[in-house]
Amino acid sequence: MKNIALIGFMGAGKSTVAELLAKKMNATLVETDMEVLRLSGFPSVNAVFDTEGEEYFRTLEQEAIREAVKRGSCVISCGGGVINSAQNIEILKGNAFIVFLHANFDTIKQRLKNTDTRPLFRQEEKATLLYAYRLPLYKKYANAIIDTDDKKPEEIVQMILEKYKVAYGN
Ligand code: S3P
Repeated sequence: MKNIALIGFMGAGKSTVAELLAKKMNATLVETDMEVLRLSGFPSVNAVFDTEGEEYFRTLEQEAIREAVKRGSCVISCGGGVINSAQNIEILKGNAFIVFLHANFDTIKQRLKNTDTRPLFRQEEKATLLYAYRLPLYKKYANAIIDTDDKKPEEIVQMILEKYKVAYGN
């Protein structure tokens, strides 16, 4: 199968959906954040950002994407910042069906309110700006866009499978 990459803002549900989708497709699940931890040896994304900085994180994130597309038949759950790099886009565009999981900012805020695992969501005001900046980019690079606000993960998976079928016929 063609790789499927899920993109979207933090809290859009990429990890949950990717896990279900990979099971359903019998595909390998790749979580770029987890791969960064594996490659860096750090215990958390916060630790990577706070100790080594964002640039280091982004370098390993790109390595994770490269490895995943090379492996093939993967469902790749991409960190929310993946669209910030032209190189990442190039890698994904050529090698994956890119699905943007869209969620409104209010939904995202609600989903993330009891977590402190996102270094770029520490200040709501900054996160709002980041969301506004990225939204058009997610849309631009997606092969398919899915509104996730009131949907269950299972429904989202079904919608992705339908869109994938239309694109690749299986
Ligand atoms: C980030 C999103 C996070 C993680 C890191 C940076 C971002 O992943 O990669 O905290 O720049 O939006 P999730 O989108 O899985 O939360």
